Amino acid sequence: MTKVSLALLVSFTLSRLFEDSRSVSRTKPMDSDDERDPLNAFMQGSDVTVVPDQLPSVRHGEKLQLSFSGTDITITVDLVLDSSPGCGGVAWPAGEVLSQYLVDKLGPGSLRGKKVLELGSGTGLVGLVAAMLGGTVYLTDQAPLLNIIRENVEINKLSSLCVVEELNWGEPIPAQIPRPDVILAADCVYFEPAFPLLVQTLCDLVDGDTEVLFCYKKRRKADKRFFTLLKKKFHWSNVPDEPASAIYSRESISLLRLTKL
Ligand SMILES: C[S@@+](CC[C@H](N)C(=O)[O-])C[C@H]1O[C@@H](n2cnc3c(N)ncnc32)[C@H](O)[C@@H]1O
Repeated sequence: MTKVSLALLVSFTLSRLFEDSRSVSRTKPMDSDDERDPLNAFMQGSDVTVVPDQLPSVRHGEKLQLSFSGTDITITVDLVLDSSPGCGGVAWPAGEVLSQYLVDKLGPGSLRGKKVLELGSGTGLVGLVAAMLGGTVYLTDQAPLLNIIRENVEINKLSSLCVVEELNWGEPIPAQIPRPDVILAADCVYFEPAFPLLVQTLCDLVDGDTEVLFCYKKRRKADKRFFTLLKKKFHWSNVPDEPASAIYSRESISLLRLTKL
């Protein structure tokens, strides 16, 4: 089987598993934004599909609709995409896996009354799903991403449950961000200089009662340096998620629960 057909098969299998109804316009050719993007090489993927159903160059205004189904509920999120502020402006596979987990395994109302913080929100996908499950959600990222997150909060009519804040890993936690009950992070391990910063931010935010769901896609051998740093401060374990994990682990995606040492 060729690499391309393997990638298509994996992508198809995941979307079948998640009963994923997505639509995305694909009109743009690659351009210089793709060359500046740190994930460019992965997006043009030589070995696996990393960003299904989206072109690397996604101009502001292109849309994606994703649906996630659980036993009692189907949640649909509309996303405006924009790759120009950075790689977070398109939806990443670990974000879809974490969203599906929240809908299927936690379910409707499960986050009501909880303060949820998403790190590296990108488009805001995971945080928006958490808000649809009742959480009060702080969607955080670096400054260039905040407008696209705000736009997505608005189009999903979640302004009453969502707060969008700048949070740069490694920097002090802004005073307006409260200590969260739940931390969500998807596809945040990809850029080596940021590894110690992300570990620092997790340390600053997590105490003994914090639930941390960390969805990770392995891309490079260097990723293990993140876990070398992480293990000085945290334990982690795989979140039981059968049968879905059998599918997404084939795409090197793991869903982990972190606990502070
Ligand atoms: C690969 S994207 C994943 C986006 C989203 N979580 C998803 O799953 O679709 C990684 C995100 O981490 C954010 N990020 C990277 N370095 C960061 C830093 N030092 N501080 C805060 N956010 C950062 C990026 O801006 C981007 O939105």
